[in-house]
Amino acid sequence: MIVFVRVSRLTIRFVGMVLCACAVFAGGGVTVSAGQLRSITEGVYSRQQAERAKPIYEAQCASCHGVALEGAVGTPLTGDSFLANWSGRPLSNLVDKTEKTMPFNSPGTLSRQQATDLTAYMLEVGKFPAGRAELNEAGLAEIALPTVTNSGANAKKGNLAELMRAIAFPNSNIIFNLQLYDPSKEPKKAMPVPYDYVKWGDTVYPGWLAVDQAAVALSESAPLLLTPRLCQNGRPAPVDRPDWKKYVADLVDVAQLAYQTSKARNYDAFVDFSDKLNQACANCHKVYRDVGGTEGSGMQPCTVPNP
Ligand code: HEC
Ligand code: HEC
Repeated sequence: MIVFVRVSRLTIRFVGMVLCACAVFAGGGVTVSAGQLRSITEGVYSRQQAERAKPIYEAQCASCHGVALEGAVGTPLTGDSFLANWSGRPLSNLVDKTEKTMPFNSPGTLSRQQATDLTAYMLEVGKFPAGRAELNEAGLAEIALPTVTNSGANAKKGNLAELMRAIAFPNSNIIFNLQLYDPSKEPKKAMPVPYDYVKWGDTVYPGWLAVDQAAVALSESAPLLLTPRLCQNGRPAPVDRPDWKKYVADLVDVAQLAYQTSKARNYDAFVDFSDKLNQACANCHKVYRDVGGTEGSGMQPCTVPNP
């Protein structure tokens, strides 16, 4: 979520986001792994159990995961990328994840039974056959999700949201901070007690050096936005679109200008800079992240607009 806070004449921007991601990647063939006590294809849940969870799903999950579990703001809960995520893992892991972390905006509110029933619903939508008995605690540990072969290189690669959080977010915040502080007047940072590597690191390259580095990180890493990868909802990032390439090129231009301005230690020239940088981020987000919602909402990440 991008929060705008007005302080004196300057608009302060924090480009943040409500959601976090887990790795999602494209799947290949699906096989049932050997060695487990029961196969997931034997009918490990009952239809009645899945139907019991449906209203809970519709009320508490569908807004993020889609009515058909196809994924929206949240990841898909069916299909190749979902199965690849849980490849070979016991059903208890999926129930744990649901019980402890979902709904994303109020975790810890589902009972174990509800999380188990919701998992049965995911299996039903995923076309795993229903049986007579309900999925229960004893079954969870001994039934594994199918093993997906060729889960592919995306498994080892961060998704687009993670890339944004790793590089674009922290480094643009260093530049946005110039609205608040003149780096040449920054007080000397003390050695952290107790020792902390990250805080110690901040003492090594302080002031303008940190701004130089943030500008280099933004300009030199921008081309990574052109390499194929998935978004956190499992859709491919639209890296081949001409306007996408233009937004990336614009970000490189702005970041290179930041680098030159920082090298010149020209604090006054940074007055309007946050607006420029924010625009370079927002122009792409408006088209490829926030369509149909407010800025920062992440309503429709990585959806290719209709012509
Ligand atoms: C506010 C949006 C939101 C709501 C509501 C929500 N989720 Fe999620 N869910 C997410 C996001 C974002 C992720 C990916 C990040 C993560 O794994 O924590 C996710 C991940 C998951 C995953 C892991 C998927 C995977 O492949 O790793 C499961 C399972 C899940 N949600 C189930 C549910 C269920 C069941 C509900 C309803 C009780 C629910 N979620 C409600 C946003 C939401
Ligand atoms: C070329 C397009 C593009 C540019 C330029 C861009 N972004 Fe993004 N950004 C996206 C898309 C698409 C997403 C959604 C990714 C996803 O859901 O996997 C996103 C997501 C994010 C997120 C949210 C991550 C999360 O937790 O869901 C943050 C934070 C972010 N961008 C920051 C920035 C900043 C800061 C800049 C500018 C320095 C920037 N972005 C430039 C396309 C872009």
